[in-house]
Amino acid sequence: MLTILGLNVISGLCTAASSCASSLPSRPTVVPFPYNHGKPHAISSPRTKTCYVHAFGNGQDDSQTIYSAAKACNKGGIIALLDPQYIIGKALDLTFLQSVDFIIQGQISFTPDIAYWTGASFKYAYQDASLFWQIGGVDVNIYGGGIINGNGQVWWDRMVTNTSLARPILVGIIGLQGGTISNLKLSNPPNWFHFVANSSDLIFDKMTMIALSNDSNAAKNSDGWDLYRSDAIVIQNSLISNDDDCVSFKPNSTNVVVQNLVCTGSHGISVGSLGQYLGETDIAENLYIYNTSMSNASDGARIKVWPGAVPGSNSTSSGGGVGFVRNVTYNGMHDTRVDYAIELTQCYGQSNAKLCNMYPSTMLIENIVFNYFTGTSNKYDPIVGTLVCSSTTACQNIVATNINVTNPSGKKAEWKCTNVDKSTLAINCV
Ligand SMILES: *[C@@H]1O[C@H](CO)[C@@H](O)[C@H](O)[C@H]1NC(C)=O
Ligand SMILES: *[C@@H]1O[C@H](CO)[C@@H](O)[C@H](O)[C@H]1NC(C)=O
Ligand SMILES: *[C@@H]1O[C@H](CO)[C@@H](O)[C@H](O)[C@H]1NC(C)=O
Ligand SMILES: *[C@@H]1O[C@H](CO)[C@@H](O)[C@H](O)[C@H]1NC(C)=O
Ligand SMILES: *[C@@H]1O[C@H](CO)[C@@H](O)[C@H](O)[C@H]1NC(C)=O
Ligand SMILES: *[C@@H]1O[C@H](CO)[C@@H](O)[C@H](O)[C@H]1NC(C)=O
Ligand SMILES: *[C@@H]1O[C@H](CO)[C@@H](O)[C@H](O)[C@H]1NC(C)=O
Ligand SMILES: *[C@@H]1O[C@H](CO)[C@@H](O)[C@H](O)[C@H]1NC(C)=O
Ligand SMILES: *[C@@H]1O[C@H](CO)[C@@H](O)[C@H](O)[C@H]1NC(C)=O
Repeated sequence: MLTILGLNVISGLCTAASSCASSLPSRPTVVPFPYNHGKPHAISSPRTKTCYVHAFGNGQDDSQTIYSAAKACNKGGIIALLDPQYIIGKALDLTFLQSVDFIIQGQISFTPDIAYWTGASFKYAYQDASLFWQIGGVDVNIYGGGIINGNGQVWWDRMVTNTSLARPILVGIIGLQGGTISNLKLSNPPNWFHFVANSSDLIFDKMTMIALSNDSNAAKNSDGWDLYRSDAIVIQNSLISNDDDCVSFKPNSTNVVVQNLVCTGSHGISVGSLGQYLGETDIAENLYIYNTSMSNASDGARIKVWPGAVPGSNSTSSGGGVGFVRNVTYNGMHDTRVDYAIELTQCYGQSNAKLCNMYPSTMLIENIVFNYFTGTSNKYDPIVGTLVCSSTTACQNIVATNINVTNPSGKKAEWKCTNVDKSTLAINCV
């Protein structure tokens, strides 16, 4: 055994007889169920060594030890974080990983040091993303039943006086090809819970994610998962309580299955917004969203696309993007107190409906299915949902079947439908 900075590396296979095997939980079996996107999931190669990370304790920073463990046990190892409390106080770059497992049994907490993190976090141009740590490489599994805590409250409090504060996202998955993230609790992210970018072949399973303010400054932008430039992703069997999108499909999200989620307080399962930038191509394709529950949410199913740019407009971010939203199915959603059960709009960001219709979207929305929606929508009673296209040709083949969403008044549920072919909508368009 070799010891580096409170870090033990045990080489060789852990057998049932060794202390390492007996103290480590086995990797949970994570399989997409019941749906999958049709692409195979890469099998993890065997793990043949283990690095135990010992926490310093007393609030001291463990980020360097975790980094050293990941280096020492890269290419076929297990990084075991079995202590009750780890602190990450320095930006941690783990984008070099190859065939490793992380077992997190205790809690990983990020320091509430706003002055440090606003400068040192990893920054990306897309949505001004800022990250505490970034995980990438190939074949990585993270599990263990532990907690990842973003200490978001200090950030939500500071936002009151600084709305442009660069708040870190809790988990940055950047350029990870193949892996699973399962059986973890995530709490109080300063910003989104997950940013999944430039990644493929990942399964998220059995995650519990809660953003809850303990004072009058509410949690902000605590999206569950934001997918960007990512392919072949499954998100399933998880519980999310937050204040923003439960799942958000940003530009170039393809072949994604989302199933068996329970979302509370969210802005729904959202595609977009897309098409915001003139001349850019955004794609959202082959998304299958099955069996989700949505409570106290602004939306259940949501698709947001910008219209065309108004000629002469000075802004570079006011629509006019090209591309498409294609083959998106929401199959089975149960709503409790949502504002709109379905909100599809192709006039996003343009409050003037005349201008939206005059300069319709250059992004096509096609082959969209909403099937089996039940429950209640209350805010705009008797209206329970809305489907607004910017022209009759910019949306194609939008289908709604088996929709039974009721409202508190008990009046016949109404839907606001604009520029959309009503012959494939089994709803009461008004
Ligand atoms: C509430 O938030 C503050 C930070 O503003 C933190 O110090 C405190 O531990 C939190 N309390 C609970 C119960 O989470
Ligand atoms: C607000 O946050 C931004 C970004 O993190 C930072 O550059 C700026 O200095 C902060 N402003 C104040 C008044 O602290
Ligand atoms: C993803 O890849 C692109 C192209 O290489 C790069 O510009 C971008 O910084 C990467 N990461 C994110 C988060 O966008
Ligand atoms: C739907 O999801 C819920 C919550 O995860 C789960 O309990 C239930 O078994 C799922 N139902 C089906 C038919 O998959
Ligand atoms: C999305 O994919 C399209 C088509 O491949 C490409 O033109 C566009 O640049 C991509 N967008 C991003 C943000 O990567
Ligand atoms: C539509 O997307 C689903 C889910 O990813 C996929 O299984 C199916 O093959 C896609 N259909 C077409 C016609 O591409
Ligand atoms: C939704 O909000 C209502 C009214 O505020 C509350 O009674 C209920 O507990 C909330 N539901 C959930 C699942 O949080
Ligand atoms: C563009 O900006 C100029 C200078 O700020 C302003 O005079 C003009 O009205 C703007 N045009 C539009 C269409 O907003
Ligand atoms: C629609 O849902 C309501 C309330 O849950 C229920 O009473 C009613 O029977 C359902 N209607 C159909 C046609 O399933």
